[in-house]
Amino acid sequence: MSAFWHPFSDMNAVTQNGELVIVRGEGSWVWDAAGKKYFDGGGALWYCNIGHGREAVAKAMYDQACQIASYSNFGDISTPAASAAADLVASLAPVPDSRVFFTSGGSDAVDTALKMVRRFWTLKDQPHKKIVIVRENGYHGMHTGGTSLAGIPDNNKGYNELVTDVVKVPWDDSDELIRVIDSIGEDNIAAFYCEPVMGAGGALFAPEMYLQTARKACLERNILFVADEVITGFGRTGEWFASIRYDLQPDLMLVAKGITSGYAPLGAVVAAPSVWKTFYAPETGVWRHGYTYSGHATATAAALANIKIMMDEDLPGNVRRLEKTFSDAVQTLSDIPAVDHVRSGVGFLGGIQLKEPLRAMEYNARIREAGLLTRAIVGGAIQISPALTTTEEEIHQMVEIYRAGLTD
Ligand SMILES: Cc1ncc(COP(=O)(O)O)c(C=O)c1O
Repeated sequence: MSAFWHPFSDMNAVTQNGELVIVRGEGSWVWDAAGKKYFDGGGALWYCNIGHGREAVAKAMYDQACQIASYSNFGDISTPAASAAADLVASLAPVPDSRVFFTSGGSDAVDTALKMVRRFWTLKDQPHKKIVIVRENGYHGMHTGGTSLAGIPDNNKGYNELVTDVVKVPWDDSDELIRVIDSIGEDNIAAFYCEPVMGAGGALFAPEMYLQTARKACLERNILFVADEVITGFGRTGEWFASIRYDLQPDLMLVAKGITSGYAPLGAVVAAPSVWKTFYAPETGVWRHGYTYSGHATATAAALANIKIMMDEDLPGNVRRLEKTFSDAVQTLSDIPAVDHVRSGVGFLGGIQLKEPLRAMEYNARIREAGLLTRAIVGGAIQISPALTTTEEEIHQMVEIYRAGLTD
């Protein structure tokens, strides 16, 4: 056993049982050190949108690293890769004329946005607008801000109070959201954070019109709408962003994962003019926020090559074309005695809800044994989020492996 302290792990169990060492990947498949082949049912951790082993991305990173691997972007400095990646992401963004603040990953984007919304209202001379509203079951990363925004109770237990002025609402009830907003008073609220489809919280699809109603309520009440698209961004729902699919026009959109499909760590806050113009105003001056690797040249080169593949192969279109096939296929798993129901219908995203939620880890181990890697997610469900390159034939292969693992 190596000295590697694994993230999100029971290290006693990992030390006892050993690591699963992955050595290679190709498309929707990966191989472990013993040579066993697995279907990648989780797309690694909801991120390998273009599939594994794409040489064009590796080559772009190699070329960039040979030129210059990275350079500080504080102040006025940029690299061609950082500027081009920002322009490309902005050109795809749900709100025209957006600006892109790069981070090192999703949690950085969540916390950057938290500071952005609080500072925004301070700059607007309304510092009393500081409460952030989040939904139960929400996952917004693991930094201090994101831990405080967690709607999954186990994710913020045991740290005492970190960031204050966070209010939770049910994940699926827009009437209750509006009631809570109105009882707190819009003058006290900075922003509402919202995953268009909840990932780690259980692969939960919001009720019809929930997202649009929430968005409208925020707009009417002068509350910034933050769409956390770390999972849903870059094609997973059959559009470049779920905010396009649901016409949300977010003030801030958070992305990571699919922006590079995991070939390099990168995230971003995509800011609409409603927000960035205040920060860019002559009287604002320096915003003292940023990371050493904000705009990292090799990571942004990976993003450019990754997004080019997504465009050339029309991967959002592939998801849209196969969405019904995908959903119909995974729904057949609901006949298995251990399965309560299957959540699906939007993009390459799904959750297999088990009748006995406490056995989710055990079923996940059996699915692994059967030849598919995925995760048990909150509420006793099993995640489905393969690469967006997954073919119709592979969808059926994937379902048969889930079936084998879930059948007692
Ligand atoms: C919706 C959402 N937001 C934020 C994050 C945090 O991203 P990262 O793990 O890259 O820091 C995740 C990670 O899974 C996520 O699913």
